[in-house]
Amino acid sequence: MNGIEITGLGKALPKTSLKNDALKQYMDTSDEWIRSRTGIESRYLCTGRESLTDLAAEASRKAIEDARIRPEEIGLLICATCTTDYMVPSVACAVQEILKIPGGVPAFDINAACSGFVYGLQLIYALMNSGTVCRSDRKYVLLIGGEQLSKMLDFSERSVSVLFGDGAAAVIVKPSKDKHFFCHTAAEGDRSALYAHTVGRNQITGLSKQGEKLVSPNPLYISEDYAREIMKDGYLKMDGRKVFRFAVRALSSEIDEMERQSGIRAEDVDYIVCHQANLRIIDYVRKQRKLPEEKFFVNLQKYGNTSGASIPLALADMKEKGLLKPGSRIFCIGFGAGLTWGGCYLEF
Ligand code: UT7
Repeated sequence: MNGIEITGLGKALPKTSLKNDALKQYMDTSDEWIRSRTGIESRYLCTGRESLTDLAAEASRKAIEDARIRPEEIGLLICATCTTDYMVPSVACAVQEILKIPGGVPAFDINAACSGFVYGLQLIYALMNSGTVCRSDRKYVLLIGGEQLSKMLDFSERSVSVLFGDGAAAVIVKPSKDKHFFCHTAAEGDRSALYAHTVGRNQITGLSKQGEKLVSPNPLYISEDYAREIMKDGYLKMDGRKVFRFAVRALSSEIDEMERQSGIRAEDVDYIVCHQANLRIIDYVRKQRKLPEEKFFVNLQKYGNTSGASIPLALADMKEKGLLKPGSRIFCIGFGAGLTWGGCYLEF
C-alpha cells in the first residue's frame, strides 16, 4: 500500500443561513466589521431540533452514495468533532446506527478541533497500513468532519460568536497503490488561547431548586458557587490576536512541511485548502509566499469557521464545482484549538 484515496464526498448544512446583518438583532456588530476583519458574509446555524448527528448522518449518506459503495463495505468510522451531541456514545456510533452500517468494525470520534480532519486522515493511513482495520470485504473508511459550534456560542460575546457556523462533510477513503499521501500533525497544549469547558453551564442547568438553594443531582460533584463561577466557561472563548499569530505561523510551516514531504512546490499543486477561519490569515500567508489568489480555495464567505468540518466542506464544494479532477494534487492545512495543526498532501 502506498497511500490513501478519497473516493466519495458528501455535505450537509442546517436549513438556516444568517447573513452578517441579521446578527445585528442579537449584538452590536456590523456587516462591514465582520467582512473586513474576516471575509465572512454568512453562516449556517442549527435551529429547532437540528443537530450535529443529523448533519453527520446526512453528509455520510451522500458520501456513501457518491463513492457508489454499500454500507456493509465500511470497515471503520471516524468523526472529527469538538461539539459532540452526546458525551457517550460517539457521533460515529450514532451515524453507524442511523445508516445501519453493520457492526463489528471500530467507530469512534476524535477531537483535534479545526485540525481534526487532517488528524483523521493520518490515523486512517496509519491504521490501514498496520493491516488491523479494513480487512477483506470491508476496505472503506467513513471519515466525517462535523460541528454544531452554535451550541458553544454566547451571542453576548460578539468577538467570537460572529465567526463560527455549523455544518458537516464526510469522505469515503480507501487504500491506494498508486496515489501518494503525506501527512504531518502536531500540537502544543494551550488551555487559554481557544477553549470551552464542559463544566459550567452544563452543570448549573443540571442543578435543581431545593428551597432557596440549587443542588446538583450528584451533590458530591459540584457546588452552586463553583458552577456559577465557571458557568461562562461553557461557551467558546478565544484570544483572537494570539490565535491569529499562531494560525499564520502554523499555516506557513505546514506548507513548508508538505513541500518537503511531497517534493512538490506550493506553486505546483492544484490547490491549497486551508482551514476556513479567516480570509486575512490566508491572504497574509499567500502574500508572504507570493502565491496567486487562485491557488487557495476559499468558501468561508458562506459558512464562517466550521472547525473540523471546514476542510471536508471545502473539498465537497470543490467537487461540486468540478475542481477536483483525476490527478488533482492538493495540500490541506488545518490549525486550531489545542493548539493543534497539521497538513496533508492528497492526490485525486
Ligand atoms: O478556528 C480557529 C482559528 N481561529 C482563528 O484563526 C481566529 C483568529 N483571530 C482572528 O481572526 C481575529 O483576531 C478576529 C477576527 C477574531 C478579531 O480581529 P481583530 O482585528 O484582532 O479585532 P479585535 O479583537 O482586536 O477587536 C477590535 C475592535 C474592538 O473594539 P475597540 O476595543 O478597538 O474599540 C472590539 O471590541 O473590534 C471590536 N469588535 C467588534 N466590533 C463589531 C470585536 N468584535 C466585533 C464585532 N463587531 N463582532
